[in-house]
Amino acid sequence: MPKNEAAWLVAKHRPLEVRNAPYTEPGPHEIVVRNRAVAINPVDWAKPFVGDMMFSWIKYPFVLGSDLAGEVAAIGSAVTGFKPGDRVLAIAAGMGEKCNRAAESAFQRYTVVRPHLTTAIPDSMSFEDACVIPLGIVTAACGLFQSDLLALEKPGARPEPRDRWVIVWGGATSVGCNAIQLAVAAGYDVVTIASPKNHDYMRKLGAAHAFDYRSRSVERDIVATLKGKQLAGALAIGAGSVDNCVRILAQCEGRKFVANCSSPLSIDVLARGDRLRLGRMVAIVPSLVLANLRTRRLSRRYGIPAKFFDASSVFDNEIGPAIFRDYLGAALADGRFRPAPPPRVVGHGLKDIQKAFDIQRQGVSASKIVVTVD
Ligand SMILES: NC(=O)c1ccc[n+]([C@@H]2O[C@H](COP(=O)([O-])OP(=O)(O)OC[C@H]3O[C@@H](n4cnc5c(N)ncnc54)[C@H](OP(=O)(O)O)[C@@H]3O)[C@@H](O)[C@H]2O)c1
Repeated sequence: MPKNEAAWLVAKHRPLEVRNAPYTEPGPHEIVVRNRAVAINPVDWAKPFVGDMMFSWIKYPFVLGSDLAGEVAAIGSAVTGFKPGDRVLAIAAGMGEKCNRAAESAFQRYTVVRPHLTTAIPDSMSFEDACVIPLGIVTAACGLFQSDLLALEKPGARPEPRDRWVIVWGGATSVGCNAIQLAVAAGYDVVTIASPKNHDYMRKLGAAHAFDYRSRSVERDIVATLKGKQLAGALAIGAGSVDNCVRILAQCEGRKFVANCSSPLSIDVLARGDRLRLGRMVAIVPSLVLANLRTRRLSRRYGIPAKFFDASSVFDNEIGPAIFRDYLGAALADGRFRPAPPPRVVGHGLKDIQKAFDIQRQGVSASKIVVTVD
């Protein structure tokens, strides 16, 4: 049996510790991946930093991590379409409430994954590139295509032009880079909002127009650009962006719905100090409550629904197969979809994942923090 090792979270507010981990054989409908590269998301460092207020179902010791790429090590008896040795990427379900299983998390050598959340990658694609995709694409796809959110038409090989526009606020985030590509692949035109240094990159990913979120006239400029055009809705990524999107949609034509994946509190506010202490939490709660009330009031005033969503819905709904089985493999193979934002490899081996958390916590701009797994 292969020897497994994991970067364990042994208790809240503690750095990760690399220790042996059980090797879990795949169940009939599962695959085991030998991980070669993993990517870090804000939620990974936020869990140990915040403690039990986040992912309260997680009991210690636990393994974190959602984004992985590697080789198929073993398949369950009912799995079709994959074989040992295949190069794949997958979203790891371990941290999700319904799963809550360390064997299904990414920060270890061997992870149990689900076939409908796994995609073969081309031989020419590095594992470091591939592992930037999973949580970003899943979150973007839920917001854009889920029936209770924007419910857009799904992406295809030759999308029909829909002559409808989608606003992706936060295009340079990991979620945003995936959302721009998916919306364009589904035939929509995209307006996005990011720092000016990333505007060329936003256009390379397919956005028709890019605006600066720090500009005082950003909302006015977007409304002017979208004059006479039909909207299909907005995906709000980043703290506070839901309010910007509601105000913009209120002045545009077409579908008026905002799918929001971010809390009202910027991650920068959360990331100060060595952990979220009680005093700071007490100081933060009123601003969280006020921000939520403000959004609700704005949404009611303009009659524009603004719905928060959590991408863990992908573990059991139709979006997983629509993306991982029906779209992504072929789109990566012929270059229609590219891994974005680009990886910034900051470490080699599970021991470097803690260092990678610290780097992600400092903030990134159109890049994904990646660690290779030996
Ligand atoms: N609900 C869910 O299930 C779920 C899942 C995954 C992520 N998320 C949330 O999605 C958000 C993005 O996560 P991520 O991992 O994709 O982020 P990320 O890649 O770490 O985001 C970094 C980017 O944020 C951009 N940014 C910062 N402030 C902004 C603003 N006011 N407007 C527009 N862009 C801004 C920066 O753009 P510039 O460099 O151009 O300045 C930077 O490139 C976070 O709020 C995260 O919590 C939610």
